[in-house]
Amino acid sequence: MSMKLPFFKTKQESPIETNELTNVPEHVAIIMDGNGRWAKKKGLPRIAGHKEGMDVVKRTIELASKHNIKILTLFAFSTENWKRPKPEVEYLLRLPKEFLHTYLPDLIKNNVRIETIGDFDSLPDFTKEAVQYAKEQTKNNDGLLVNFALNYGSRSEIMRAIKLIMRDVDDEKLSLDKLDEDLLSTYLYTQGISDPDLLIRTSGERRLSNFLLWQLAYTEFWFTDVLWPDFSEEIFIEALMDFQKRSRRYGGI
Ligand code: IPE
Ligand code: IPE
Ligand code: MG
Repeated sequence: MSMKLPFFKTKQESPIETNELTNVPEHVAIIMDGNGRWAKKKGLPRIAGHKEGMDVVKRTIELASKHNIKILTLFAFSTENWKRPKPEVEYLLRLPKEFLHTYLPDLIKNNVRIETIGDFDSLPDFTKEAVQYAKEQTKNNDGLLVNFALNYGSRSEIMRAIKLIMRDVDDEKLSLDKLDEDLLSTYLYTQGISDPDLLIRTSGERRLSNFLLWQLAYTEFWFTDVLWPDFSEEIFIEALMDFQKRSRRYGGI
């Protein structure tokens, strides 16, 4: 059973005054990092951190909806995470199923649409089936889009795009002089989704770890030392308020 955490409070009960939140980012991407260190600090096995992190994912989805964010992209499993010990990989890949088993009814009720980016076909069947079911069940929802990056790596995404483009050129479906940045974007997993406005990474690491290299070209970055299982509404609001102060010039003046 999942824990009932305070974030399930209604809007009225929210401890934080958020009236001053204007200019909310349309698309927020999060590198949810620090589960292992959180568990270690508590003397628990790493997977206890992943389990806790799963509940925080649900909370964060609620917060994103509440604050009118339109798209939330969550880095859940990278193409490099296969390097971890087998039992940890297995646990991480079972989490989507457990997450959806626990929370899908709520997500449906809250009009959330579930999508994924990444090499979906190479995931184990138990992951694919659970996630595919959730995609089907939520495909007509028009609230928050939650985009899970599952078996996602940006370099392999770009490689894949190049191969697809070359194949289409070979098949004479595409002529090279038509290829521009917008068209290239349609060959990425994120096709049709606007670039993130704000990237958050928890746990104090200040790197991208192969996440959305193309899409983050003009994204605002926000880092916190807080470990993912401790991510809270306060921290999220802090990030959103900081975003409000940014001046995005895109190379202009
Ligand atoms: C993030 O936490 C979850 C995944 C990468 C899947 P970590 O497992 O990377 O935790 P740390 O960084 O080792 O503390
Ligand atoms: C990035 O975190 C991947 C996810 C959050 C899923 P990692 O913990 O795998 O990244 P590194 O190894 O610290 O760069
Ligand atoms: Mg990590």
